[in-house]
Amino acid sequence: MATVSLHFSSPSSALASLLCFLLLSGVSFAADPFVSYDFKLSYITASPLGVPQQVIAVNGQFPGPLLNATTNYNVVVRVFNNLDESLLLTWSGIQMRRNSWQDGVLGTNCPIPPRWNFTYQFQVKDQIGSFFYSPSLNFQRASGGFGPIVVNNRNIIPIPFPQPDGEIIFMIGDWYTQDHKALRKILDSGKELGMPDGVLINGKGPYKYNSSVPDGIEYLTAHVDPGKTYRIRVHNVGISTSLNFRIQNHNLLLVETDGHYTSQTNFTDFDIHVGQSYSFLVTMDQNATSDYYIVASARFVNETVWQRVTGVGILHYSNSNGPASGPLPVPKTDVSAPWSAMTQPRAIRQNTSASGARPNPQGSFHYGQINITNTYILRSLPPTMINGSLRATLNGISFVHPITPVRLADRYKVKGAYKLDFPDRPFDSRPPRLDISMINATYKGFIQVVFQNNDTKMQSFHVDGYTFFVVGMDFGVWTEDKKGSYNNYDAISRSTIEVYPGGWTAGLISLDNVGVWNIRVENLDRWYLGEETYMRIINPEENGQTEMDPPGNVLYCGALRNMQKDQHHSAATSILNGHLKLMFSMLMALLALVFTF
Ligand SMILES: *[C@@H]1O[C@H](CO)[C@@H](O)[C@H](O)[C@H]1NC(C)=O
Ligand SMILES: *[C@@H]1O[C@H](CO)[C@@H](O)[C@H](O)[C@H]1NC(C)=O
Ligand SMILES: *[C@@H]1O[C@H](CO)[C@@H](O)[C@H](O)[C@H]1NC(C)=O
Ligand SMILES: *[C@@H]1O[C@H](CO)[C@@H](O)[C@H](O)[C@H]1NC(C)=O
Ligand SMILES: *[C@@H]1O[C@H](CO)[C@@H](O)[C@H](O)[C@H]1NC(C)=O
Ligand SMILES: *[C@@H]1O[C@H](CO)[C@@H](O)[C@H](O)[C@H]1NC(C)=O
Ligand SMILES: *[C@@H]1O[C@H](CO)[C@@H](O)[C@H](O)[C@H]1NC(C)=O
Ligand SMILES: *[C@@H]1O[C@H](CO)[C@@H](O)[C@H](O)[C@H]1NC(C)=O
Ligand SMILES: *[C@@H]1O[C@H](CO)[C@@H](O)[C@H](O)[C@H]1NC(C)=O
Ligand SMILES: *[C@@H]1O[C@H](CO)[C@@H](O)[C@H](O)[C@H]1NC(C)=O
Ligand SMILES: *[C@@H]1O[C@H](CO)[C@@H](O)[C@H](O)[C@H]1NC(C)=O
Repeated sequence: MATVSLHFSSPSSALASLLCFLLLSGVSFAADPFVSYDFKLSYITASPLGVPQQVIAVNGQFPGPLLNATTNYNVVVRVFNNLDESLLLTWSGIQMRRNSWQDGVLGTNCPIPPRWNFTYQFQVKDQIGSFFYSPSLNFQRASGGFGPIVVNNRNIIPIPFPQPDGEIIFMIGDWYTQDHKALRKILDSGKELGMPDGVLINGKGPYKYNSSVPDGIEYLTAHVDPGKTYRIRVHNVGISTSLNFRIQNHNLLLVETDGHYTSQTNFTDFDIHVGQSYSFLVTMDQNATSDYYIVASARFVNETVWQRVTGVGILHYSNSNGPASGPLPVPKTDVSAPWSAMTQPRAIRQNTSASGARPNPQGSFHYGQINITNTYILRSLPPTMINGSLRATLNGISFVHPITPVRLADRYKVKGAYKLDFPDRPFDSRPPRLDISMINATYKGFIQVVFQNNDTKMQSFHVDGYTFFVVGMDFGVWTEDKKGSYNNYDAISRSTIEVYPGGWTAGLISLDNVGVWNIRVENLDRWYLGEETYMRIINPEENGQTEMDPPGNVLYCGALRNMQKDQHHSAATSILNGHLKLMFSMLMALLALVFTF
């Protein structure tokens, strides 16, 4: 395993506390293993671009530690909010089967107040691949709080390539030297954020590749051995900039994205849009005359002006003969010819014969033969003033957060918490408005969602709780006849997709996961300004079997805030409780043993 500056911390899996948690939260024993983590979110001072600033760390680390699990594991994360604002963590790409209670967005969870703790528990059911967690409120992702999630294949299911010699994770993203609160103020005052101050790789600024980079910046070095092959997982956790990722003189063999194995294809460089995750196999097949540049540079912007928005790290062979030097490698595809740039995402295909989380091949779900039950065209427009504030819209609606989470509102019959009238087409005749409109989606439906980007920037859209088959992508306005051009055979299934400005992307989704699921633009500025909605998917024969009950620790807020007990943090009582819990759980563990044998 290569040593990189992203630290892998081992889970604090104390059996007793785990048993205790399970017993006290009323969750029954499941056959699948557990991993448990403590995540303490707090501010630290760091100077990734040479300017000291407040960033959000997890357990003192920026980016946060790896959450490492295997298919079907139960994951327990005790989150301690040591920030001065409320917090939710969301687990992008984790399907949360029947369990939107743990999704960590405002439509499904009450925010965790400052100084409170909250324990998330979910199962990474039927999943493999590369994902990440990040804060979903208050623009906090712009200050950090994110970290990688890996879901490994179970031993019995082989990965569709030889076992790599090591793994390296890169969290790349655009970055401002102002923190999330200052950036929020800019948006609140009706302005756009403007050009970022740089690109970070694993929380570090650029290597001084030429005189445009200030002195004294700490950069990332990835240590590798010659001849070895590494699985390199790359996540764009930035605010709003698409990034081109490349490693000087090395091919990137694309093998996985957002939890699905791709048809393996070599690229010299790859465009990674905000919120997307990719795995590449990279073979250290160079002669180590020098170190090599690792580059993440701004894309689909005026690249002559945005030169300083470039992240540069170093790939260091153990037998390297000297530092990297000379100009940075340039991407092969030219974004001034967007048609040619679009050939890259179109070339991402699913490996239909590879097994994913299950032994049967990924291609065994013949999505191309299923009739579409509904079509939703979701169109974004450039931000506009509504009621005196700058807002971003989907189908003319700028989303306002429900103050009571949707399924809690259902359960306790809170009227008017949300509306199910989200239009399935944009209507040009209606002025843009603020609303709490959601999609009333039909359980077991097979829907087509067309994202139409009429904004001026590249956008990526994400759907929680689901992946969708990316069957088509093109410029112009989507029309019904475009279905004729769809890939009905080996389209990649993923959860975050780019939509080119002036273009559209179509996805097919099989609605088998009940709950309330967020659909959002991942570009943080647009998301903050209201460019999102939710799908509410309820089994009409709901009998408690399909959707999980709210967890025992569910937080109440909004109309239900009186049901929320205060959190006391008295040391004495928690120690006493701790002892009692420990004794109780040891007793139960004994009982469990007795019943097992
Ligand atoms: C993640 O977990 C797997 C399986 O438990 C283990 O083999 C692997 O070494 C772990 N990876 C890291 C980086 O901790
Ligand atoms: C976390 O919050 C719960 C209440 O939800 C409380 O019982 C517990 O003591 C808290 N734990 C710590 C370590 O503060
Ligand atoms: C990808 O490129 C590497 C060289 O870096 C080569 O060894 C390998 O065969 C290529 N794989 C495919 C599938 O093209
Ligand atoms: C190493 O490779 C570079 C090109 O990649 C070549 O210019 C150089 O001569 C090679 N050096 C050695 C020692 O083989
Ligand atoms: C990029 O910016 C430069 C400097 O402002 C300008 O001269 C050039 O025309 C711009 N290029 C494009 C494609 O807009
Ligand atoms: C620094 O490198 C960039 C990208 O390789 C190049 O465009 C720029 O002209 C260089 N600047 C200086 C001052 O050398
Ligand atoms: C697809 O997956 C299989 C394993 O099932 C693997 O042998 C094959 O090389 C993969 N093909 C491509 C093109 O990635
Ligand atoms: C799909 O629709 C076609 C015609 O609209 C119909 O003939 C066919 O039976 C449908 N297939 C399924 C599986 O419902
Ligand atoms: C503007 O705000 C008022 C009062 O909050 C509200 O009634 C009205 O619907 C809002 N207008 C739009 C276009 O959202
Ligand atoms: C939502 O859709 C279901 C059918 O799937 C329908 O019965 C129900 O009335 C709809 N609810 C609203 C508020 O439109
Ligand atoms: C937005 O849509 C209008 C009308 O369909 C079109 O003329 C315009 O070019 C589009 N702009 C972008 C950036 O997509």
